[in-house]
Amino acid sequence: MKFAAAAVLGLAVLAAPAFAEPGPAEGAALYEAKCKMCHEPGMMNAPKMDKLATFDNDKIIQALTTPVPMMAGAVTGLSEEDKRNVAVFLTKKSMPAAGGLPEVKAE
Ligand code: HEC
Repeated sequence: MKFAAAAVLGLAVLAAPAFAEPGPAEGAALYEAKCKMCHEPGMMNAPKMDKLATFDNDKIIQALTTPVPMMAGAVTGLSEEDKRNVAVFLTKKSMPAAGGLPEVKAE
């Protein structure tokens, strides 16, 4: 029975939104999962986090919207909110609400 309970719990976790915390915290989790493996070692000139931090939010969102071929696989499925969250996480610059998307506040 313990096993069955664990299985049900597993389903409940899957049904919940992938990242509970909105905003840059969600962006941080996304960066860990989808960006770090190339950007941390600076693979093929991928800018590292300290370099990404100097970019504007728009530049990061642009890079995620029309990615270089290397990055295309990593960014498919990212929503506009995901892109804004990861941008604010990297730049520490807040983004105002725009186009129906909520404000993202830097922490
Ligand atoms: C498969 C490896 C890989 C993954 C995964 C990846 N990137 Fe990149 N990224 C690169 C490389 C390589 C470049 C440098 C491309 C160049 O300058 O030719 C780059 C460039 C960038 C740039 C700079 C673009 C510019 O205009 O200079 C940004 C911003 C960026 N990546 C953000 C991200 C974010 C955010 C993620 C996660 C959602 C991500 N990348 C995932 C490899 C990757």
